Parts: sequence; C-alpha cells; structure tokens
Amino acid sequence: MTQLAVVGCSQLVTLAGPTRPRTGVEMQDLAVIAHGAMLIADGRIQRVGPRAEIESVMERDCVVVDAGKRVVMPGFVDAHTHPVFAGNRANEFEQRSSGVTYAEIAAAGGGIRSTVRQTRAASENELLSAAQKYVAWFLENGTTTIEAKSGYGLSPEDEYKLLRVIAAIQPLRTVPTFLGAHEIPDEFRGHPAKYVELLIDEMLPHVASAKLAEYCDIFCEPGIFGIEDSRRILMAARELGLGLRLHADQLSKSGAAVLAAELGAATADHLEHTDAMGISALKAAGVQPVLLPGSVYALGSKRYPDARAMLDAGLGVVLATDFNPGSSPTPSMPMILSLASTQMKLTPAEAITATTINAAYSLNRGSEIGSLERGKRADFVIHDCGDYRELGYFFGVRHPSAVYINGECVNRTATVRGRA
Ligand code: NIG
Ligand code: FE
Repeated sequence: MTQLAVVGCSQLVTLAGPTRPRTGVEMQDLAVIAHGAMLIADGRIQRVGPRAEIESVMERDCVVVDAGKRVVMPGFVDAHTHPVFAGNRANEFEQRSSGVTYAEIAAAGGGIRSTVRQTRAASENELLSAAQKYVAWFLENGTTTIEAKSGYGLSPEDEYKLLRVIAAIQPLRTVPTFLGAHEIPDEFRGHPAKYVELLIDEMLPHVASAKLAEYCDIFCEPGIFGIEDSRRILMAARELGLGLRLHADQLSKSGAAVLAAELGAATADHLEHTDAMGISALKAAGVQPVLLPGSVYALGSKRYPDARAMLDAGLGVVLATDFNPGSSPTPSMPMILSLASTQMKLTPAEAITATTINAAYSLNRGSEIGSLERGKRADFVIHDCGDYRELGYFFGVRHPSAVYINGECVNRTATVRGRA
C-alpha cells in the first residue's frame, strides 16, 4: 500500500460538513483549508489538514504530488447526463439558429427520435467508442462521476444495449438510470398506451431483475408522457426497487414537480416552469432539484429555473450538465458554474456545493464521494488556478491540470508545475 500525499495546494476545497445535502447558508461554506494537504492510501482519503501536519505523518516511501499553488477540489459529480448515443444533431443546431424551435423539430420527427434511429442502427462497440470520447471530455473538465441515462433505444433490446454500454464505461464512475420513457418511439406513435404497457410489463421488470439501473427517469411533459402515465410508470419502477428521477416542468408547467414530491422521488430535474407551489411540495417531500442551465442556454431560452427561490426554500440544490446531443451538448461543469452565477445568481461557493456534495447525495453516494474527507474515495482535481472562484469566472477555458479517481491519475492535461 503506497501512500500518496497531495501538498502545495493554494486552497484545499474539502466541502467537509454535515452528512446530508447542504441547504441555505451551508451551501456557502466550502470548508476550504488554505495551504492544505491530503494523505491517500488504497484509493481513499486517510487524512486532510494543514501541510505541516500532513508532512509530519507521511511514511518514508510516500509518493508526493505537488499541486504547485493550485486549487485542489473534489471531482465534479454530474447528476444528469445522456452520454450514450450515435451521431449528433448539429443539423438541428443550425435549424435552431434560424429560429426553428426544439419543439417544432421534435414534432416533425426529429429531436430525440432522430437520435433513436441512429442509435438503434449502431452496434454496442460503436456506441461504447462514441461514449468513451465523451468520457474523455468529462474527465478533461474535472468530472469524476456521472449519472448516465439510457433513453435513445426505446425498445427492450436497444435500451438494454445502452445500459450495458453505460456499465462498460471506464474510468469515470457511473450511476445508471433507465430512461425508456424518454419519448414515444416511431413504431408506437398511433398507440402510445401500448408503449406504456411494454415499459411496465417487460422493460422495467427486466431492468430491475438484471440490475441494469439504479434509477428510473421519465420525460414528463404534455404530449410525451402526461401526469397519469408518468405516475403509473414511476410507481411500477418504485415497486421494483428503483429510485426515481423526473424530467419535470422543463418546457411547460405540467405539475411534474408535485408528482415527484408525491412519489418521493430522489430528484426533480429541469424545473424551468416550476412555481412556488411546486417548490414547497419538493421541500416538504425532501426531493432534490437538479437544475440544468446548459439546456436553457443551448436552446437559446432565457427562462432559467428560479434557483434563488429554491435556495431560499431550503432545498438541497444540485447543478448538472444534462449532456445530450439535443438540448445540452456540453460536458463542462465549469461552464455550468459560469451559467449558475451569471444567469441564476448563485454564488461561486453555492454552485460548487451544488456540483459536488449535493450531487453526490442526490445519487445516494454522499458517504463515498463529493467531498474530501477521511474515509472517502480519493476522487479529486488539481485546477490550474489559485482561487476556486476563478472556475466559473474564467469561462470557456479548461481548468484541470490533473484528475484523480481512487487516488489514480486518469487525466493530466498539463504538466503540474509551480505557479508564479
Ligand atoms: O433533458 N427533455 C428530454 N431530454 C433531454 C433532451 C434529449 C435530446 O434532445 O436528445 C433533456 O433536455
Ligand atoms: Fe435530460
């Protein structure tokens, strides 16, 4: 067991604190140790503290990593992504640039269904190599765990194929979610009720018994899956032991946030149209909101979710990329930090809490990842800046110098050298 010491941090951003999602003023407290250091063994954090204290207990053969006066932080935990798909939709990006809307493109047979057609035609190997390209992008931007959804197969075999690809992703940690209820596939357009039956009678039982996913998600939106169908599908999933996540109130106020609360979902995601009643329902039921400003930005909308109201209500707010080929083609959590502060008025500290420890709790991983504390996985990033506020401030640049998962360096984009 070789020990690893990380020293020379300008700031060791630990996020140490209560063992639950952080709310209210707690989200401002990143538990930063100025000039802190960290000891790691067997992929886990042994000790965190001031440099002198760590150096006094280092073993003789300890490998020392000098962060060179940079920020060291937990890896980002991206709690909402759709990373397995074939092709892309740059053609729709071009159409939207001339004023055609996302909903119009979807109604004409494009959008999610266009990605489904391409994904069905791709082999498992082709999908895995496409996904690994995106995995490299996540790592380069400092993300060490993603929640990964299926949802571009929409038939039993194609959905299982996507979930197997998610299970094969390396070295990023993944948390798999079944999103068979992402759209009504082409072959069920005239009779959507039949697709709901297929989801409930065949796909969900197999996904649960083969342990292909931990969560079930649904695109709850009028014209896709309405409240009644969503309730039936999610209750069936819950009965089978799956946790629940919902695409809720994204394009219209459908009451999906209230449904998430009624069903005791882990998260309600998007929430661009959620009102005060929806927010208080989420609070009463302990549902975490997952806000996805990348999709608002990329669709050219100005309607960001009311993040401040959610913080004021005491919700354990999470921020994620929603990485997907349609509404949010970004894997970059630093970009999300920028949008959170400029468009939704979260402070840099609140946004970092929402992309690390709160995200980890939303995935039932709060005791393993999301903060740099004794006993947790050594998933951390050396960012090439001296102060954590620079991460969202300098936007469109790649900050990480080195990314570690389980104490192993998985991505080094620049030689870690001393900062002036
Ligand atoms: O979270 N709204 C549904 N799902 C995705 C978009 C998927 C796509 O356009 O391919 C979302 O925005
Ligand atoms: Fe999504």
